Parts: sequence; C-alpha cells; structure tokens
Amino acid sequence: MKVIRTVSEMQALSRSWARQGTVIGLVPTMGFLHEGHLSLVDTARERCGAVVVSIFVNPMQFGPKEDFNAYPRNEKQDLELLEARGTDVVFIPQLDEMYPKGFETRVELTRLPNHLCGLRREGHFRGVTTVVLKLFAAVLPNIAVFGEKDYQQLLVIQRMVRDLNLPIEVVAAPTVREPDGLAMSSRNSYLSPEERTMASCVFQALQRARQMANGGVVDTIMLRRAMTEIIEQAGAQVDYVAVVDPDTLEELLLVKERAHAAVAAFVGRTRLIDNIRLKG
Ligand code: PAF
Repeated sequence: MKVIRTVSEMQALSRSWARQGTVIGLVPTMGFLHEGHLSLVDTARERCGAVVVSIFVNPMQFGPKEDFNAYPRNEKQDLELLEARGTDVVFIPQLDEMYPKGFETRVELTRLPNHLCGLRREGHFRGVTTVVLKLFAAVLPNIAVFGEKDYQQLLVIQRMVRDLNLPIEVVAAPTVREPDGLAMSSRNSYLSPEERTMASCVFQALQRARQMANGGVVDTIMLRRAMTEIIEQAGAQVDYVAVVDPDTLEELLLVKERAHAAVAAFVGRTRLIDNIRLKG
C-alpha cells in the first residue's frame, strides 16, 4: 500500500493506471475509520482494479461553531486498517495544497442543500462539493463510493456529477450499524458510555416510523411525532425529524413509495444523523 501526499503524484499514478485500462475507485473519507468506511472500501475493491482511499478533514465543510479542531484523527490506525483491507493507495492531501493562499472557488448546488442538514449547517454542502470535486480532480477515479448514512450528501454528489458531466459513477453503499442499530460514525467516539446507550434511540425512532408506515400509517405528522417522542424519552434532543421525497428531499405530508425518514439528534453535545427507507 502506498501513501501519497501530493496532488501531482496522485494524478501521475492515476494516469498510468488509466493507460493500462485499470478501473480506479475512490473512497473519500475524513479518516478515523470504522467498519462503515471499510465496507465502502470493500465495495470499491469488488468493482475496481485500483482502490484509492482519501483522508482529509476538510475545514470548508465545518461551521465556525462546529468540531473541526476536535474532529478525531488517527492516521497510523487508519493506515493499518486500510492495508488489511487491500487498499492500493491512501491519498492524504495537505491543507495548503487543497486550499492554497488565494483560493476562491466554490462549488454549490441551489436546491438539494436547502433541506435537512443543509438548513442546520450553513455552507456545509458547499464545502463538501468543493472538496469532493477537488478530490475527483486529484484521483481521477472511474467510480466513487459514498455511504447511504449521509443520504443528503450522496444525493448532492450524484447531482453534481450529473450536472457537471463528470465521467464518474457514484456508487451508494448501505449503512453499517452496531448491534443495537446505531449507524457507525466517527463522531460516535465522542459519546460517553451513558450517551452511547442513549444513542440507539435514533435508529429506534426510524424503525418505529418504518413499522408505522408498513402498518398503513400515511400521515407523516404522526410518524414525526412518534420519532420525536422516542428520541426525547431517551433523553436526546431532536435537531430535525423528517419524512422526505427520496430524490428532492422535499418534506412529504403523506408517505409515498421510496420515501425516506431522516433524523438528526443531539446526544449530549454530539450531533448524530441517520435515515431509513420507510417502506419495504
Ligand atoms: O463523508 C465524509 O466523510 C466527507 O463529507 C467527505 C465526503 C469525505 C468530504 O469531505
């Protein structure tokens, strides 16, 4: 496994792979890897001759009051996990190459970010699309794998790829969960043991909404009320609970095919997000 820290070296290697006809897969991450990330690596491994995992904690997608400085980092452990999983290259770009002095370009969608997390985290998706396009330009992948846990991010990236005619296939990989249903996330490491127990309420709320929808409840107010109750009874705080159109993320009054329920909740000071397809 090779570690590459500059854009020019990464591009040169990707160009030589492309000349040999090798399919290049990219898994973009912010590091502090867990089984959820590693399952994305497995998905890339199945589809690609060369697998690149990028690690970059992207300051542009954090708000001024968010956890950029505290965000967990452990490069040594990440490299061990990635090597064991058969990664070819770990691309770790440096801050001053990603955002050199004078950097002023932004990549921004006009509609999809105006829902769910985009309403709570001003500028977050602008930061995500800007950095992901830069990672694409550095790694030149044929395939890029993103987790369904960050469902809004997945849709935003798919939209950007279509809108900009990028020759990249975006592959969605299912959420990996702990035994109690908690979606794996690097931010779970912030939770105290007590909060960790409480955190399963997020998945429980989503599951309850799915049970109700499968049982014939179509009024999304009832689903949202039930989700809120489960989260609050556990002692967590709702940031949002929503039932949304799976393509536009617009809030639905009535459940329809492929509708998603989405939750963001504060467990202590840690903000957790998760989502689920309601029917089926
Ligand atoms: O999902 C993440 O870890 C990040 O948002 C991403 C896609 C690596 C961009 O920084």
